[in-house]
Amino acid sequence: MMNRREWIAGTSGLAAAAGSGLAQSLRKNIVISSANGLAACKKANQMIAAGSDTLDAVVAGVNIVELDPEDTSVGYGGLPNEEGVVELDASVMHGPTRRAGSVASIRGIKTPSNIAKLVMEQTDHVMLVGDGALRFAKTFGYPEEDLLTPKSRLAWRVWKQSLKDASGHNNWAPGLWAPTAELKHRFPGESEEVLAWAWEMAVHPTTGTINCLGLNTKGEISGVTTTSGLAWKIPGRVGDSPIIGAGLYVDQDVGAAGSTGRGEENIRVCGAHTIVENMRRGMPPTEACLDALKRIARNYNNDKAKLDKFDINFYALRMDGVHGAATLWGGKRRGSNYAVNDGGESRHEPCAHLLEA
Ligand code: GLY
Repeated sequence: MMNRREWIAGTSGLAAAAGSGLAQSLRKNIVISSANGLAACKKANQMIAAGSDTLDAVVAGVNIVELDPEDTSVGYGGLPNEEGVVELDASVMHGPTRRAGSVASIRGIKTPSNIAKLVMEQTDHVMLVGDGALRFAKTFGYPEEDLLTPKSRLAWRVWKQSLKDASGHNNWAPGLWAPTAELKHRFPGESEEVLAWAWEMAVHPTTGTINCLGLNTKGEISGVTTTSGLAWKIPGRVGDSPIIGAGLYVDQDVGAAGSTGRGEENIRVCGAHTIVENMRRGMPPTEACLDALKRIARNYNNDKAKLDKFDINFYALRMDGVHGAATLWGGKRRGSNYAVNDGGESRHEPCAHLLEA
């Protein structure tokens, strides 16, 4: 039960976060994202400055990454499921109208964030999945396309050849299998650099993703999260990105939060919703993110050996423009920066972290 002091602190935090005074004092439009979103943040902020709606802007921003064949964790070029098929998840939330939309396990569409936005705008549903989501996208004229690139197909083939049974056998790669000489032999014509990357992806499957949150000087806030999910996943696996409250949450009175990294861990703590509620109670954005990470660590009794098996990152943007981010592990691991644009060029800012590697 809350004592009187905690109740007052909580309600004054809520008033501070929800008070229009904070939003009115905002002088700059602000867009933040995961580290892979420098270009996305710039594009979104340019659109907001030109008068676009905050959701239109952040979706246009992440479209850059979805369409980028070099980003192997989002949209076109994302790493596929275990059968070599790319399955995408995305969600959007629009603060001013308090609406949400999402798609999960959608195949063949390069920009799932657009389809999530269409679900929000054109239906009274919140989430469409799988074949239904694809058929819905097609009714709006989106073509069904092959989302594998030569690079992501190569990574999938290397992954298949890296698998072994208990006796060390693999039908794709009978005999001795090693990541160096044998790789070159089996993939003639591929550069050592690409093969080294593919091997790394095979051994350490990624859960990349982009989350992008945008706030304008009128105090309107929106967010989007989009991903190709966990590489080599079981077909049909859905991560946190399309789950409202896990991969994304926006509350026009408080702020917004999102996540990248191992979605299963996030879903178990409803990370984005937890962070927004922490901010509502007066917690600054970075501490709010760290608190969500502590809940994940608590699920493993803070056992570092178990927590070492994954990465997860949270991002938060409050209505007064204060933002922050936190990652589970400090050091060189992915997610140690996040992208920020408050006008002009985007920059990276450091994430706080919960644990030292
Ligand atoms: N966070 C992306 C995923 O786990 O699918």
